[in-house]
Amino acid sequence: MKAIIIAVVLAAWGAGSVLQGQEHPIPRIVEKDGRYALLVDGAPYLMLGAQSNNSSDWPATLPKVWQAIDYLHANTLETPIYWEQFEPKPGQYDYSAVDTILAQAREHHVHLVLLWFGTWKNGSQHYMPEWMKLDPERYSHVTNKNGELVDSPSPFAQASLDADVRAFTAFMRHLKLADPQRTVIMVQVENETGTWGALRDYSAAANKLFDASVPAEVLTAMGKDAGTSAPTWHEAFGDEAEVNFHAWAVAKYVGKIAAAGKAVYALPLYANAALRDPVKPGAPGSYESGGPTDNVLPIWKAEAPAIDVLAPDIYLLDTPSYLKVIDLYHRPDNALFIPETAGTPHAARFLFSALGLQAIGYSPFGLDYSRARPPTTGDAAAQNAFLDPTAQNYKLIGPMMRDVARLNFEGKLQAVAEVEGQPTQTLHFGTWDAIVSYGGGRGGAAKGNSEPIGRALVAQLGDNQFLVTGYFSRVDFCPAGTEQQRKSQQIVSGTGQEPSALIDGKWQHRQFLRVEEGAYENGAFKPARILNGDQTDWGLNFNSEPEVLRVSVATY
Ligand code: DGJ
Repeated sequence: MKAIIIAVVLAAWGAGSVLQGQEHPIPRIVEKDGRYALLVDGAPYLMLGAQSNNSSDWPATLPKVWQAIDYLHANTLETPIYWEQFEPKPGQYDYSAVDTILAQAREHHVHLVLLWFGTWKNGSQHYMPEWMKLDPERYSHVTNKNGELVDSPSPFAQASLDADVRAFTAFMRHLKLADPQRTVIMVQVENETGTWGALRDYSAAANKLFDASVPAEVLTAMGKDAGTSAPTWHEAFGDEAEVNFHAWAVAKYVGKIAAAGKAVYALPLYANAALRDPVKPGAPGSYESGGPTDNVLPIWKAEAPAIDVLAPDIYLLDTPSYLKVIDLYHRPDNALFIPETAGTPHAARFLFSALGLQAIGYSPFGLDYSRARPPTTGDAAAQNAFLDPTAQNYKLIGPMMRDVARLNFEGKLQAVAEVEGQPTQTLHFGTWDAIVSYGGGRGGAAKGNSEPIGRALVAQLGDNQFLVTGYFSRVDFCPAGTEQQRKSQQIVSGTGQEPSALIDGKWQHRQFLRVEEGAYENGAFKPARILNGDQTDWGLNFNSEPEVLRVSVATY
């Protein structure tokens, strides 16, 4: 009888979990025609996140995190899981922090990206449990050229790898059981892996491998002939030999942890990188060696295939550097995902540049109230100033994020941020060009905003219909032709100067058929009024207020 009851209960539980599985399929990253989407609940999802400060995922601090997440209207919180908390004694796992963050995220209706602060955190082993830190012989550090131990874990420490594999697997197994709702949509494996202060491990065991032949898959990945010569690392890569060797060792180690975790619960996994200068990369040693920097992405792809995405932490905020970084990480074999960046007023506009490269997610770092900021005194506006640039983005894009993600996956969306000294940008949509301009007051030529804070997003809904939004910018449409006159660049007077193009020897002029202003409600655009007259005669102007337009155009 008891056996029957158990069988019935198990069958009912099984049916329930199948049902839940149907309602909430496991998030995954998909690719089509070189474009990527993060599927959450079976549909493309744009992660508009915020990362907490490093020491914020504690019950005492979490209220200060949620206060910021709610203010931002972020749809995802990125927050760490600390190995030292998770495995206080060898083999004893404490799931309380995971359970707490799951419960609180659900109360706040946000998703989570959990960051596994394991063997590496910013190149060091600071989050290893005490029992590991106290045994550096067994859980060894990198040895530098002088034979000294460095503040960085060795990727050749088998005992550390085994312990991390066991702990990460326990964490993922628990997540699978505890999260049928799929509150957690991605997991970061380690944090900014690699080493500062040494290019690689110079222990005897590491030196032996360094002097041996480069594995064939590394040669192939790096575009070298993997034929018969079997070169050593130095022969194959010269000055880059040591960083490539360290990347190989670190990626292999992380790849094993990721594969073990994925085998128990196949959530999307990613690894984040402390970058090297993308515009003028310095010599090895000037950046963290071993992590997924742009020069070793193929090695990481080859050695850690269970990692779905290699993701840049972007704190280089000048425009050329930012744009170059996102270009380097937006690859046919890699979705663009920005897990850390700055939430400053100038940097906030780069969310749009990332959307222009089909980013699946974006998350400024340190957006909670746990540390010195905001001042505990002062008015609310002063206290929230550090959140406002991100909040402004999320207020606009948040309600429409499913459409943005879907249209981007379908290749119908383009988005840009203002670039200093470039007051107009043209986006090509088949028979139409969208012309984005900045700093052109009514009746004036675009000259750029006094600070480069403009941004715009245009998506094609039909042959002659577009979804348009932005901040501090103007968008207009021009028939794509051989020769074009654009009102948005050179306004001479009022109406009658629509953007026009010479097509088959005849001037074609843009006219607005209908410009609907509206808002997203429950994921769908709801028009509220039709704009015309002064509101459209000088193009479609976006200022500091969140405004979304659905625009139908025609020619005459
Ligand atoms: C990058 C790291 O990944 C973060 O955890 C944090 O340490 C920031 N740097 C700096 O605050």
